[in-house]
Amino acid sequence: MKPRVFVTRLIPDEGLDPVRQACEVDLWTDDLPPPRDELLRRVKGVEGILSLLTDTIDDELLDAAGPQLKVVSNFAVGFDNIDVPACTRRGIPAGNTPGVLTETTADLAFALLMSAARRIPESVEYVRQDRWKTWGPMLLMGVDIHDATLGIVGFGRIGREMARRGRGFGMEILYQDVHPASAEDEAELGARRVEMDELLRESDFITLHVNLTDETHHLIDTDALHAMKPTAVLVNTSRGPVVDPDALEQALRAGEIFAAGLDVTEPEPLPADHPLVRLSNCVVVPHIASASKVTRGKMAAMAAANLLAGLRGEHLATPVNPEVYE
Ligand code: GLV
Repeated sequence: MKPRVFVTRLIPDEGLDPVRQACEVDLWTDDLPPPRDELLRRVKGVEGILSLLTDTIDDELLDAAGPQLKVVSNFAVGFDNIDVPACTRRGIPAGNTPGVLTETTADLAFALLMSAARRIPESVEYVRQDRWKTWGPMLLMGVDIHDATLGIVGFGRIGREMARRGRGFGMEILYQDVHPASAEDEAELGARRVEMDELLRESDFITLHVNLTDETHHLIDTDALHAMKPTAVLVNTSRGPVVDPDALEQALRAGEIFAAGLDVTEPEPLPADHPLVRLSNCVVVPHIASASKVTRGKMAAMAAANLLAGLRGEHLATPVNPEVYE
């Protein structure tokens, strides 16, 4: 008999096809995630769950699934939606999809950086509103990207790709991470590790690439924003709650920083009438950093491979709780 699995949303065929071949699949086909009570009902008795970052995987859900559950495979690199210790306590490996989305995510982060710096959405809107009447010496002036200082908070895979992109624009690269990069990596990427206050003070662009944890929750708060230059641009493609949204709104309104580009927000999604959406110096896109066709296909294939490995009792290629195998 094929193992029963619940797939919490329609994902690209690169992932769905192999799962369908090997499993009896219950697939949630709505555009919106399964509501909590539905999720709890649908996981009952399954051996595997292919989840998204919009699904909370916690004690309640693992209990609702039952003791036959063998694996949770998240279609995302971030896994703050999963209570990892709760999985580990039950001996359940949980997987994520690192690596395949690194460059696509950095591409979008850099696009946000450029959009916010050069006021691109605002300029497009200006033309659409038929306000473009002449070439203007002071029209829609932004801040320069080339030769500026780029501060990278979180120097993992995606943070390092930002360094590469920044170097292409002649930027000076500063970074902050609890784990220093090796001297060779620092030399190759032309990056210098500094304390957070120096990074906030010295950077023209600050881009966030940390996991969401208790330590990084509201890492960018009123004090952090005060420390930035009035010409600074903040970019967030990590997780929304790394930035205090009220503090950011205040800083953008008061001109304490120049602009922000956000792929992730708190709350998420943001309603259209949210102040951060309405502010002309805030560029908000709907959590699309890894959304290229090729990359989403690779993520789907990787999530499927983790799911199927877990069902077979094999080690996941990319477990977030490798301690489960000890
Ligand atoms: C997207 O945010 C991801 O974590 O993959």
